[in-house]
Amino acid sequence: MLSEHKDRGRWNTKLGFVLAAAGSAVGLGNIWGFPTQVADNGGASFILIYIICCLAVGLPVMIAEFAIGRHTRRNPVGAFKKLGNGWFPPLIGIWGVICGVMILTFYMVIAGWTFSYIFEELFYFTGLTALSEWFGDLQNGVKNAIFTILFMTGTVAIINGGVSNGIERATKTMMPILILVLIIMIGYVMTLEGSSEGLKMYLLPDFSLVDTGLVFSALGQAFFSLSLGMGALLTYGSYLKRNQNIVESATYVTVADMSIAFLAGLLIIPAMFVAQSAGITIMGEDGRLFSSATLVFDVLPDMFKAMGGMFGLIFGMAFFILLSMAALTSTISLLEVPVSYIIDEHKIARKKASLIVGSIVVTVSLVISFNIDLIDVFATIFNNVGLPLGGLMLSIFLAYFWKTENAVAELRHGYSDVDNGKFPLIWGVFIKYICPVLIALVLITTLYNLIF
Ligand code: PFF
Repeated sequence: MLSEHKDRGRWNTKLGFVLAAAGSAVGLGNIWGFPTQVADNGGASFILIYIICCLAVGLPVMIAEFAIGRHTRRNPVGAFKKLGNGWFPPLIGIWGVICGVMILTFYMVIAGWTFSYIFEELFYFTGLTALSEWFGDLQNGVKNAIFTILFMTGTVAIINGGVSNGIERATKTMMPILILVLIIMIGYVMTLEGSSEGLKMYLLPDFSLVDTGLVFSALGQAFFSLSLGMGALLTYGSYLKRNQNIVESATYVTVADMSIAFLAGLLIIPAMFVAQSAGITIMGEDGRLFSSATLVFDVLPDMFKAMGGMFGLIFGMAFFILLSMAALTSTISLLEVPVSYIIDEHKIARKKASLIVGSIVVTVSLVISFNIDLIDVFATIFNNVGLPLGGLMLSIFLAYFWKTENAVAELRHGYSDVDNGKFPLIWGVFIKYICPVLIALVLITTLYNLIF
C-alpha cells in the first residue's frame, strides 16, 4: 500500500466535518443561484421540485462520494485508481480535478465582486460616492483583478492551515455567523412594506409552469448547490474517521443546504418587492423578475440605498459579508480537490501545492476578469455539463464497477445497523437506476439545447 503523505489530514470532530461539507455546499449557488432560479421559474413549484431532486438524486450521490472517499483515503484521481483498473476509473477523478480548477477560475471572480461590494456599500453610506462607484463597477478589470487575487489569497491561507486547523476551523466559525446574519436579515425585511407580496410569489405554487425543462433546471441546480460531481465531497470524505455515520452526515448536509437555499429565497424574493415599493424597477419588459447579476448587484444595493441611514449601511454591508463568507467556504473546497491530488499523487507539501494551483487559477481568473462574458461560457460548460457528467460517471462506476455491496460494507462503519430498514436496497435502487437515468437525461437535454 502507498504511504500516506503527512499533509493528508483528518477532521477533528463529527460536527466539524458536517459543517465543512455544508460550507462547501452552501455558497453563491444557494444565496444567489437558488433565488434567481425561483424567480426565473415562477416561484414555489420550483422549490418543491428542487427538494425532490436534492433528496432523490443529490443525497444518494453524496453518500456515494463520502463512501468512496473514506474507503480509499485518497483524492479523486487516486481514489478511483485504487478501486478499479483500466482507463475509465482515473478518468473520472481527472475530470473532477479539471472541473474543480475551471469552476474555481470564474467562481473566484464572482466571489471577488461580492467582496468588493462590502466596500461599495461602506463608501456609499459614508458619502464617498466616487469611491463607492469604483468598488461597485463589475466591468472594471483592474478592480476585479485586485479582488480576485485577495479572495484567492484568503482561500490559500485557509487551505495552508490543513484539514482540521484550516478548513474545519474556518468553516466552524463562519457557518453559524452566516446562518445568524441570514435570519436577522429575513426578520427585518419581513417588517418592510412590500415584503408580503414577495412572500406570496415565493410560497404559492403555480403548477402550470412545471415542465421537463424546469425539472432539469432544478436537478442541475441541486447538483451544483450540493457540490456534487467533481469529487469535492469525495475529498472531504477521505479525511473522515471510520466511526462517523456517513448516511446520517450526508442527510444533515443535504438538509442544511436546502434549508439555507430556502432561507435565502425568503430574504431575496421579498426584498425585491420591498425594492419595488421603494420605486425600484425589479422586472424586465417581459414581466419577469430580474435575475442573475442585475438582481444581486443592482436591485438589492438600490434597495439598501432606499432604506438609507444606519439600516441601509448595516444591511448593505451584512448582505455582502454574508455572500462573501458563503463563497469562501465553497472556494476552499474547490481548491482542496486539486491540492489533495497534488499532495497524494505527486507527494508535494500542502503549502507548495496550494501555491501552485492558486497561481494557475488566478492567472486564468485574471483573463476572465477583464472579459466577463467568458464567465457565462465557463459556467455553462463546467457547471451545467461538467458536474452532471462527473456525477453520472461516479454513480455508474460505483454501481457497476466497484459494486454497491462494497460501498455498503464501507457505510457499515459508523452505521452498524445499515441493513435494518432496507437501506442497502433503497440506496442501491437509487444509485444504480434512478440517479444515472435522471442525470443522463439532464445531460442530454443540456447538450441538445447548447448545440441546437
Ligand atoms: N456548492 C457551491 C455553491 O452552491 O455555490 C459551489 C460548488 C462548490 C460546486 C464546490 C462544486 C463544488 F465542488
